[in-house]
Amino acid sequence: MSRFSKQDFDLQNTISKNRLTGIWKMMYGYRLRYLGAITSIGLAALAKTFTFLLLRYFIDTYFLEETATIGLPYIALGFIGLALLEGCFSFLSGVLASQTAEGITRRLRNYLFDHLQKLTFTYHSKTKTGDLIERSTSDVDALRRFFADQAINIGRILLLFIVNFIAILNINAKLALISIIVIPFILIVSLLLFKKVSVAYESYQQQEAILSTTLQENLSGVRVVKAFSRQKYEIDKFDKDNFEKYNRGKRLLLMDSLFWPISDIFCGLQLLAGYYFGAVMAINGEITVGSYMAYAGLLIYIIFPLRNLGRVIVQTSTGLVSYSRVIDIIKENREPLDQGDHLPDGDLQGNFDFIHLGFEYEQGDQTLEDINFSVKPGHVTALLGSTGSGKTTLVQLLPRFYEYTTGEILLDGVPLHKYPRKYLRQQIGIVEQEPFLFSRTIRENITYGVGRDVSDQEVETAAKAAAIHEGILAFQDGYQTLVGERGVTLSGGQKQRIAIARTLLKNPRILILDDSTSSVDTETEAEIREALWNLMQNRTTFIIAHRIQSVADADLILVMDKGRIIQKGIHTELINKEGVYREIFKIQTRIEDELKKELENVD
Ligand SMILES: Nc1ncnc2c1ncn2[C@@H]1O[C@H](COP(=O)(O)OP(=O)(O)OP(=O)(O)O)[C@@H](O)[C@H]1O
Ligand SMILES: [Mg+2]
Repeated sequence: MSRFSKQDFDLQNTISKNRLTGIWKMMYGYRLRYLGAITSIGLAALAKTFTFLLLRYFIDTYFLEETATIGLPYIALGFIGLALLEGCFSFLSGVLASQTAEGITRRLRNYLFDHLQKLTFTYHSKTKTGDLIERSTSDVDALRRFFADQAINIGRILLLFIVNFIAILNINAKLALISIIVIPFILIVSLLLFKKVSVAYESYQQQEAILSTTLQENLSGVRVVKAFSRQKYEIDKFDKDNFEKYNRGKRLLLMDSLFWPISDIFCGLQLLAGYYFGAVMAINGEITVGSYMAYAGLLIYIIFPLRNLGRVIVQTSTGLVSYSRVIDIIKENREPLDQGDHLPDGDLQGNFDFIHLGFEYEQGDQTLEDINFSVKPGHVTALLGSTGSGKTTLVQLLPRFYEYTTGEILLDGVPLHKYPRKYLRQQIGIVEQEPFLFSRTIRENITYGVGRDVSDQEVETAAKAAAIHEGILAFQDGYQTLVGERGVTLSGGQKQRIAIARTLLKNPRILILDDSTSSVDTETEAEIREALWNLMQNRTTFIIAHRIQSVADADLILVMDKGRIIQKGIHTELINKEGVYREIFKIQTRIEDELKKELENVD
């Protein structure tokens, strides 16, 4: 099977009600190797068995009866050869087993990473990051251990058992039957513990996810914790969760370790009984001394696999639980990026009509209601309104991050949902309210997602437009400066401007600026605003802002409250009308006048 098809295998095919079937499906492309690993271990077991049979020959035929046709050197060579064979096949099996386990989990990790990036916005806003991290690391690792150890061991144990059982059967049938009395007992204990360990392990993993969520949130929010002096509270909370994990871990270990003493008792009794009956039979002359010696060795190789089988069954429960937890993510449907078949012939015009638009995140909880307005191509629409009034929500409907629930948005006369998401996202550039930068260089952050080679000239032009070029040059490494943990820590305003440069470089037909100038001072804001107005030329733009200054030149201003548009018009109209807009305008101009006066006094 080619490498390519293995990497391309869609793991959604491995979703199965029966978890063992699912795991078998997950092994697609690696099954031959897996079977190879088991076969090798079987051959190693066979070499071991033959060692004991050779021992019997050596004692009975060579020593006692002195009728051997093979000389001592050959018998010695036989022992060495068998030992070599056993070693080689054990090694081969180890190699194949690790290739199987590492290969399957590598594919799984890649798939999960890819999958997680393609899930819907709704899924991500509902799911805790810590839980997702837990499932993509710890649970994947449990599966890796399952493939590396348990899956191989099941095969190994069964083969060892069958081969050695046949060998003992060959020595004496009665002895063979006496040697396996313990099997039903071991199986019952294993299956009982299997259920208990499954439950204990699942609850352990859940608690671990809670702990990693706490850790992850604390690290991201470390500033808030410090600012509010909540260290003590956070430590107590962590300690409580950690103690719960400790308890669950103890319970899990207890279940796991219960198996050993119980199985030891059973296996010890079995060994004693086997040796005893074997010895009696040897004394009575029913079997030869050599047979007894061979039997004594073989018996161990039946009992220990059995004891391990029980353990493997118990441990398999962790693999199965982890399989389910991983499959929970794989089951989620991806955002269909290609869904929708309308692709305009030429360029997108950028004409929007919002008709009785309504949207709810949760059913029955109306976030946007009866939104009606139209936007001409190249026009600037400003959104203003109290916090939580739905401004961000409204603009996030445009790239189809979420699907509107009622009414219609027409883009160039065509319903928005007819456009493929991928196309819309290429056409729409967003500067988010809280821009996120990667721990990469500033240049890489600016060119992120452009999808083509960009010249330094272009990058600089974008940075200049976003009024950040000088700022970047002030860093020692300029555009090659690393952002984040290993590099410089950028201020909110710097981050925002880099995000603006990133969006400008993308050169989108439609521009969305969500509060893009909120983290900068008034002077820089004026600078950026000027740059932005230039850039908004010929692009349909939606700008969310809190300062009247930022929106005064817009072609249409929408004032929002509780998910509805309460005022609509241009600046000159709105300030002459009774309403929220005029109130905000009055307050803001008053504050600015006062500021100006104070500054004059200082001078
Ligand atoms: N992912 C989400 N799931 C559920 N509800 C959400 C989600 N995002 C926002 N909301 C809710 O929708 C409402 C509108 O939020 P939105 O972010 O659109 O407000 P906004 O006008 O942008 O506010 P701000 O000026 O503070 O940015 C709020 O009540 C908020 O709680
Ligand atoms: Mg917002």
